[in-house]
Amino acid sequence: MTSMYPGYFISFEGIDGAGKSTHIEAFQKLMQERYPNREVVMTREPGGTPLGEQLRGLLLDAPMNLETEALLMFAARREHIAQVIEPALMAGKIVISDRFTDASFAYQGGGRKLSLDKLSALEQWVHPHLQPDLTLLFDVPLEVARQRLDAHRTLDKFEKEKSDFFTATRDVYLQRAAQFPNRIRVIDSTQPLETVRQEVENIIQQLIQQR
Ligand code: TYD
Repeated sequence: MTSMYPGYFISFEGIDGAGKSTHIEAFQKLMQERYPNREVVMTREPGGTPLGEQLRGLLLDAPMNLETEALLMFAARREHIAQVIEPALMAGKIVISDRFTDASFAYQGGGRKLSLDKLSALEQWVHPHLQPDLTLLFDVPLEVARQRLDAHRTLDKFEKEKSDFFTATRDVYLQRAAQFPNRIRVIDSTQPLETVRQEVENIIQQLIQQR
């Protein structure tokens, strides 16, 4: 795997309830152990900057036109790349982002049915060259995701969507994994936590060997 930056950029993805949040903290610890001399920067989308967090508040709560939603996601991303991701990667740091552009294709493209061409155009505009070195896609069937979500909290605007929305979201995630098999690794997140953790560890090992 070659990258234009000395750092590593890793994103976490999956439909709501797939379990990515459970694994992201353990992953941070693992990366810090494997790369003791590199700073690990944890961040998230939408968000990651003061402006991005304000946009997140709107995006997760306020009803809005589909294209407005996509444009604001990419506006927040533009700021995130400029202020956080690019400087950290240039400085050789490891950036771990809870979601990135695959989420826009999956949610706005799959879930909301915005044309994938429009999303590609936004991607070309906002980050024509930057891509994660590695994306971990936590995958579970819809019913499992719904059960996990219902169990523990008040739902935001996306989490309140119907199953059709999440079926389409998951489908686009899986299509992208098939399209970019070197970058996106699908993790069967119905497995026991320890098995998933082991799988994540093996994937990191491969990443280290490749660079
Ligand atoms: P999420 O990452 O699930 O955070 P939390 O665990 O705190 O709920 O929430 C972010 C939501 O934003 C999620 O439902 C997916 C959505 N989203 C998009 O629709 N498009 C995007 O481009 C991004 C980054 C997120």
